[in-house]
Amino acid sequence: MENNGRFGDFGGFYVPEVLIPALEEIERAFYRFKGDPKFVAQLDELYTRYAGRPTPLYFAKRFSEYVGFKVYVKREDLLHGGAHKVNNTLGQGLLAKFMGKTKLIAETGAGQHGLATAMIGALFGMQTKIFMGTVDTRRQSVNVHKMKLCGAEVIPVAGGTGTLKDAINEALRYWTANVIDTFYLFGSVCGPHPYPTVVKHFQMPIGTEARKQCIEQIGKPPDMVVACVGGGSNAIGIFSGFFDDKKVRLIGVEAGGEGVQTGKHCATLLEGKIGVFHGSRSYLLQSDEGQIYETHSVSAGLDYPAVGPEHCFLKDTQRAEYVTADDEDVLDAFEIFTKSEGILPALESAHALAFLISQKGKLPKDTVAVINLSGRGDKDVGIVEEHRPVQ
Ligand SMILES: Cc1ncc(COP(=O)(O)O)c(C=O)c1O
Repeated sequence: MENNGRFGDFGGFYVPEVLIPALEEIERAFYRFKGDPKFVAQLDELYTRYAGRPTPLYFAKRFSEYVGFKVYVKREDLLHGGAHKVNNTLGQGLLAKFMGKTKLIAETGAGQHGLATAMIGALFGMQTKIFMGTVDTRRQSVNVHKMKLCGAEVIPVAGGTGTLKDAINEALRYWTANVIDTFYLFGSVCGPHPYPTVVKHFQMPIGTEARKQCIEQIGKPPDMVVACVGGGSNAIGIFSGFFDDKKVRLIGVEAGGEGVQTGKHCATLLEGKIGVFHGSRSYLLQSDEGQIYETHSVSAGLDYPAVGPEHCFLKDTQRAEYVTADDEDVLDAFEIFTKSEGILPALESAHALAFLISQKGKLPKDTVAVINLSGRGDKDVGIVEEHRPVQ
């Protein structure tokens, strides 16, 4: 395998032996097809006509006035399915099809990746199973319903905390017994190699487009690019467009919800210690004995104790900065952004907005920030209502 999928000391593929041929098969197919003209043409067509790419870069005038500097919003929330997840599911789904696979499985937290996989299962006529923690099936019940409407089977996972990590455990267990005809469509830039590389590749259009749009609309790259980080796919997608612009600050915002067992934040990059989880070496929220901590965040999509290996590398090499936003600040950000722009952000994306609000009055007014609005907030209206009932 190429570099064994390492990002510095992070990444790799720590999996049961039975999965190694399946991961190698995906890696081979990825390198074979990613530049194949037929594959590229089909994917481009799907990105444009099915998903709605390119997404706009929108100047948020009233929100900019509120924070006191210029904020441009990359509108991934406008994509089909309501989040950036469809970029990856179209890419991996097409790869699965080119490989001759007939069945898809996926894990999901907020339900956005599950929904995006269910959509692609319907589009390509592939049998689809989605593993989802029971806590998440309850808090994201609308997405569960949508997945079922697309024809997917949703498998509730009751073990552990009933959240994303437990869904991944169960999906990996299922895959181990069904590797021959099943493609595991992984949802973020974590997990074993080649997923961090594959998922990054399919999310890179966010950054490529955003940089081009900055040059067209502002005449230069921005001063900072801000994105929320769960596993890290929307952040890597937009960061990748600006890696070579050394002056552009790349800022990832993790969930600062309270850990259930620890009372700690679930900010993996800021508070984690290096370990191996779900097939990859990364920062990890764990005890001194290596037990994985339970996490909690108001946003299901960021409620995960590990993080993509490339983010660990970007943190250690100081190319990117990582901060947290607490649940209360995120709910404030949801409210402020919605009232000033008429756009409901996903609670995940609201973490990035909360960081911008925390910079109110601290940055020169000609500062330009680009924020990746990774998804729309329709799925979160019930959660927001629970915490902040509308008067
Ligand atoms: C809208 C949205 N943004 C962000 C995330 C976090 O994932 P990632 O860090 O891979 O972008 C999720 C995950 O479900 C999501 O639904």
